[in-house]
Amino acid sequence: PASVDAKFKKHGKYFGVATDIKLLKEEKNAAIIAAAFGAVTPENSMKWDSLEPKINAFQWAWPDYLVQWAGNHSQIVRGHTFVWHSQLPDWVKNIKDKAELTTVMKRHINTAMGRYKGKIYAWDVVNEMFKDGNGELRDSVWSKTYGDGFVKIAFETARAADSKAKLYINDFNLDQLNNAKTQKMISKVKEWRAAGIPIDGIGSQAHLKPGQAAGFGAALKGLCAVVPECAITELDIEGAKAEEYATVAKACLDIKNCVGITVWGLRDPDSWRKEKTPLLFGADYKAKPAWNALLNAV
Ligand code: XIL
Repeated sequence: PASVDAKFKKHGKYFGVATDIKLLKEEKNAAIIAAAFGAVTPENSMKWDSLEPKINAFQWAWPDYLVQWAGNHSQIVRGHTFVWHSQLPDWVKNIKDKAELTTVMKRHINTAMGRYKGKIYAWDVVNEMFKDGNGELRDSVWSKTYGDGFVKIAFETARAADSKAKLYINDFNLDQLNNAKTQKMISKVKEWRAAGIPIDGIGSQAHLKPGQAAGFGAALKGLCAVVPECAITELDIEGAKAEEYATVAKACLDIKNCVGITVWGLRDPDSWRKEKTPLLFGADYKAKPAWNALLNAV
């Protein structure tokens, strides 16, 4: 397929995809990613349960493979993710003592960022901390222990670990400007940055349902306005309507500090939402109509 990333590069932006070792070892998958994308995010291999399933015993083989693959193909990497309620091992969830949890969080961030220092463009330091609906803090060992105080510790630790990596807060359902969660993200990030917490970017995951692309640009503009940079980090759209993909791509192009788009997988059968056929390639490795729409829109 023609490279959508090459088109994004003309605007100073990237077009990336989530993947991991198993798919990168499939020749056809890897060939498409090498030819048509400019960034990779590990779909699972840098999550806590994969990276540090047992205390202070890190599993590097899978994420190392992805980081090396990216280097070999001149692609950037988005690291994903540290402080999250999900894919978090029980041994972390069960920590009751704040000092102990802080030690564990700092070691995890320092170890991963230290290993890949200089090789990761951006890290999702905090993921999905707000509830849907009212935008209040999501229940987790993090919020139970610190309220929202883990944000300061996590971002300050990350900044010290790799001062060049861009540090992101990432979430889903930030697709309409006037929902409570989008508003909460905007006001809290403004407040945290004013207090000196080193948040460089907001990631809007963008797992979209049909119809949601319409208000997406306005929401993204609101989010991007309170940070130095922003990105669409996990794009997939139920049904993969060509016009909806084009609308979302244009939303990023229209915003100067939107640095790029990552789609959450290559082929529908490998998608976490496969029954919704939300991606840009089909089981036959052929580009779907939305791919051409992107080439034309960018
Ligand atoms: C998903 C992966 O795609 C699946 O393979 C895994 O089983 C569950 O997680 N928000 C995120 C991503 O930040 O990490 C999630 O990825 C999708 C929702």
